[in-house]
Amino acid sequence: MSTFFRLLGFLRPYRSAAILSIVLAALAMGGTVALPALTGQAIDEVRAGDASSLGTLALAMVGVGILRLVFSVARRLVAGRVSLGVELDLRDRMYAHLQELELGFFDGQQTGQLMSRATVDLQSVRFFLGYGLIFIVQSALTILLAGAAMLYLQPTLGALALIPVPFVVLVAARFNRRSRPALGAVQQRIAELTADVEENVSGVRVVKAFAREERQRSRFRESVGRVFEESIRANRLRAFYNPFIGFLPQLGLAVILLVGGRQVIDGTLTIGDFTAFYVYLLMLVAPMRTLGVALGMSQRATASGRRMFELLDRGPELETAPGAPPLPDGNGRVELDGVTFAYPGAPRATLHDVSLTVEAGTTVALVGATGSGKSTLIGLLPRLYDVTDGAVRIDGADVRDVDPVSLRRAIALVTDDPFLFSASVHENIAYARSEATREEVEAAAQRAQAAGFIAELPDGYDTRVGERGLTLSGGQRQRIAIARALLADPRILVLDDATSAVDASTEQDIKAALREVMAGRTTFVIAHRLSTIALADEIVVLEEGRVIAHGSHEELLHESSLYAEIAEKGLPDQVFLNRKPVEREVAGL
Ligand SMILES: Nc1ncnc2c1ncn2[C@@H]1O[C@H](COP(=O)(O)OP(=O)(O)OP(=O)(O)O)[C@@H](O)[C@H]1O
Ligand SMILES: [Mg+2]
Repeated sequence: MSTFFRLLGFLRPYRSAAILSIVLAALAMGGTVALPALTGQAIDEVRAGDASSLGTLALAMVGVGILRLVFSVARRLVAGRVSLGVELDLRDRMYAHLQELELGFFDGQQTGQLMSRATVDLQSVRFFLGYGLIFIVQSALTILLAGAAMLYLQPTLGALALIPVPFVVLVAARFNRRSRPALGAVQQRIAELTADVEENVSGVRVVKAFAREERQRSRFRESVGRVFEESIRANRLRAFYNPFIGFLPQLGLAVILLVGGRQVIDGTLTIGDFTAFYVYLLMLVAPMRTLGVALGMSQRATASGRRMFELLDRGPELETAPGAPPLPDGNGRVELDGVTFAYPGAPRATLHDVSLTVEAGTTVALVGATGSGKSTLIGLLPRLYDVTDGAVRIDGADVRDVDPVSLRRAIALVTDDPFLFSASVHENIAYARSEATREEVEAAAQRAQAAGFIAELPDGYDTRVGERGLTLSGGQRQRIAIARALLADPRILVLDDATSAVDASTEQDIKAALREVMAGRTTFVIAHRLSTIALADEIVVLEEGRVIAHGSHEELLHESSLYAEIAEKGLPDQVFLNRKPVEREVAGL
């Protein structure tokens, strides 16, 4: 129930329009209710053989009809504005909310589930707020007005004919109670289905490469089957209740025929009033059914609303005090002070008591086996996650105390699996600085060794790259991502395995270029090629989330047996192990 009232809250900005549409609906209903009375009167005049007022009555009917037409059109126009306005607000609020949530939240979410909430659930809420609610008010008004007209015409007969109405309301309320969990389950299954589809499409390369289409199909069939079963269950309830709601008023009709018919014969009721009564009751059947449908809408909307609020109520957990100062000026001195970090919900910490000072303008290489916490460590610099214990300081300021926007502007991150938006190459490179000129973009591409292959693309810098840049090779994507980072001209540059997919000669070129861009800014590199690692001023060796050695290449060769081993044998080939867990799971590994 509280979900229901919270949903109504979305109507607040449209209060006057919503009230106006209800008033217009009531006026249109007034016309509808007047028609049977006019019909009854006409019939009595015809029976009396008096044609004098027939013309007036006919005119009155046309007049009422036109008024009803005007009110109905106006009501639809106003209600449409309310509905679409609510939809706009809901989408805006949902998207804004998702953008505010921290990265950790998304780690635990399935993309498709989120999409389902943003589309399917949002849709059912707006249908209800825009139309369903008016249907309910309109039907209830019709029932009230027609009931009042009947009681006014003939109190006893009216009371008899209206006996089924409270039962209809009771049955509808019971239906409401029973079907809500079933509908919630359907909605949840649909969300799971969306998630399945999304994952299969995103992971289509893995599915094809391992020829797992058949298994994916059968898994999908299972999901569809679950939607089917839940829907059938919900449908069974509807199948019984809806016709039953339609049936009850028929009992009223039978009463009118039986009792009213006798009264006409006795002469206590005119044939005109009798007809009017009959039409009134027929008129009640439709609104009762509509009421059932609209109540169904309200149940779906409440189920959807609950899921939507679950998301909206989950506030961002990475908060900064309002009015936090921007990152102080500096050249990118990074200090990790006893940092311990556990991913939200993880049983064990990923980083343990890491202390590290990186002087401004130097280059640090992070080395360690897969899963040792290298990517995790650098994710703490732009505060994608908050440390569990200790502190991360950049140019003397704790990252938790500064404005996150200024913090993140100062750090550019190139990951091993760079994401390209479905947009032109230019837009992808200029992502962090959309005002950058073509010359600046080209210069960045040049320095990232990307200019050569971009020139060969069909439309050069205006070539649209696929959703995840699938039309580009892994190495090409990485170079575009490097260009994007260079264009941002950050204080701190982080290259997480950013050259893993480029060949050795290109890497040499990039390195030459990097040496140039590294100058004057702090750079973190995570690399597996010794040649890249040796480029660094300082090397930090991580093992299971702990710094076990740090120093220059030469120092470490002497001091760290692990480093010496890595230097001698090279790091194991991690290309496959590095793939995302989702892809691994889809591939059945
Ligand atoms: N978003 C996450 N949520 C929970 N645990 C995570 C998350 N990301 C990584 N981990 C875990 O943290 C540990 C360190 O992962 P991390 O990605 O930092 O390793 P890495 O050193 O970068 O490895 P690689 O060389 O393979 O990239 C791993 O055990 C991993 O399972
Ligand atoms: Mg990593």
